[in-house]
Amino acid sequence: MNINDEVNHDDCNSCPLVTNRRDFLRDAAVGVAGVVATLGIARSAAALPVSMIKAVSRGKAGITYAIPAADSVQIDRDNEVILARYQNSVYAFNLSCPHQRTALRWNDVDKQFQCPKHHSKYDPKGDFISGRATRGMDRLAIKRQGASVVVDVDQMYKEDEDTPQWNAALVKLA
Ligand code: FES
Repeated sequence: MNINDEVNHDDCNSCPLVTNRRDFLRDAAVGVAGVVATLGIARSAAALPVSMIKAVSRGKAGITYAIPAADSVQIDRDNEVILARYQNSVYAFNLSCPHQRTALRWNDVDKQFQCPKHHSKYDPKGDFISGRATRGMDRLAIKRQGASVVVDVDQMYKEDEDTPQWNAALVKLA
């Protein structure tokens, strides 16, 4: 597909990080490049590919995911979790923007999470870059278990209120 081709918006309801068709149509005007990246049509060599994932299991201790094999962004819509592997660390984020809880999207061109509502931007570690939000993305407690990570969605840390826990909420791989 060429970047100038018309995008079939009806096909985008299942795209990663596209909240709904109305939001998609509104945000399509923001930039074709971002839409193309969301669709996974074009990626640069250093891209962090985005994909939808399912949990391996869910139990009392949390939700288990396989450790991503390479730097990437993975979305578990069922549990509203974003799993990101970046620079040898794995992070788990709440899918919602910390400003007004809109589902975030990954822009593979800019290598940023972006909020479609008020356009806050965050880097792959969840650090706040710009926009109306006042803190980084909310991180979830995460720990390593062999070749997996276990994410506790009941332990969510806000960067401004839970700074030590927020800083520690990652799994270092090397
Ligand atoms: S809801 Fe995300 S910036 Fe407002």
